[in-house]
Parts: sequence; structure tokens; C-alpha cells
Amino acid sequence: MYQLIYVSDKVNTFVPSDMDSILCKARENNEKYGITGLLVELPQHFIQIIEGKQDDVEFAYKLISKDTRHHNLRVILATTTKTREMEAWAMGFSKDLDRSELNDALHILNSFSEKQKFSDIHGQSLKMLLKSLSPE
Ligand SMILES: Cc1cc2nc3c(=O)[nH]c(=O)nc-3n(C[C@H](O)[C@H](O)[C@H](O)COP(=O)(O)O)c2cc1C
Repeated sequence: MYQLIYVSDKVNTFVPSDMDSILCKARENNEKYGITGLLVELPQHFIQIIEGKQDDVEFAYKLISKDTRHHNLRVILATTTKTREMEAWAMGFSKDLDRSELNDALHILNSFSEKQKFSDIHGQSLKMLLKSLSPE
């Protein structure tokens, strides 16, 4: 399995109904291509993990990165795993993070913007956070 985690910035024209159409399209496409994952919506960012066959994940990422509803995509982790880790969802969605989850996420993102580089530790801690947010 190939896994990719990226962070992006929402455009400031983003409206809640954009989320519905993104999720609808994502779930439809991902089911077709055997991609699973989780999309987390923060006040100003998205964090997404997508996993599947490498070609399919890279193809989906290419489409996602051209989407004008967000920009400044930064890949945090690109890795292979033995098994599928986000198997429950074609694209799970997590929006209302509690304060400590949001703090954790922002802490990781802020330490990125200071250094302009994600270390492997950032990547792995973000992955743990995403897995803990994944809806059952
Ligand atoms: C934050 C974000 C996450 C997205 N996630 C996915 C995804 O997981 N899978 C997907 O196919 N499209 C996703 N999209 C939508 C794609 O950017 C694009 O609109 C869609 O793949 C186009 O599909 P179509 O060519 O079938 O119309 C996402 C868009 C945004 C802004």
C-alpha cells in the first residue's frame, strides 16, 4: 500500500457547501480506484491521507492538487505500508475536532511553517493523529 499525507490551505472563498461536493466526488472516485483515507477540515487548512496502489494514489493526488478550492499543498509523508490502514472509508471526514486535537494538529503545522520542512517525526505524528480521528 502506498500512503500519502498532505496539508493544504483553504481558499478564503471556501463555503460549507464546497465540502459536500468534494466529499461526494471523492467517495465516488475513490471507490472506483480502491483508494481509502481521511480528510480533516481545520479552520484554515485541510489535512488528508490517501492510500491505495501507488499509481492510483499519485493520480488522485495530481487531480486533488489542481483543485482551486485549496492551494499550497505540502506533502508531509509518502510511504509504503504492508497493509491498508484506513480501510473503513473511501474518504472519511473529520471536522469538529476537540480543542486538544485541534491544538495537536496546529502545533504540528506551525512547527512546519517555522522550518518549512517536515521531518519524519512530523509525518509520523500527523499520521497517528489522523488515525485517532478516523471515524469508526
Ligand atoms: C481537500 C480536497 C480533497 C479532495 N479529495 C479527493 C479525493 O480523495 N479523491 C478524489 O477523487 N477527489 C478529491 N478531491 C476532488 C478533486 O480535487 C477533483 O475535484 C475530483 O477528483 C475531480 O473528479 P472528476 O474528474 O471525476 O470530476 C478533493 C478536493 C479537495 C479540495
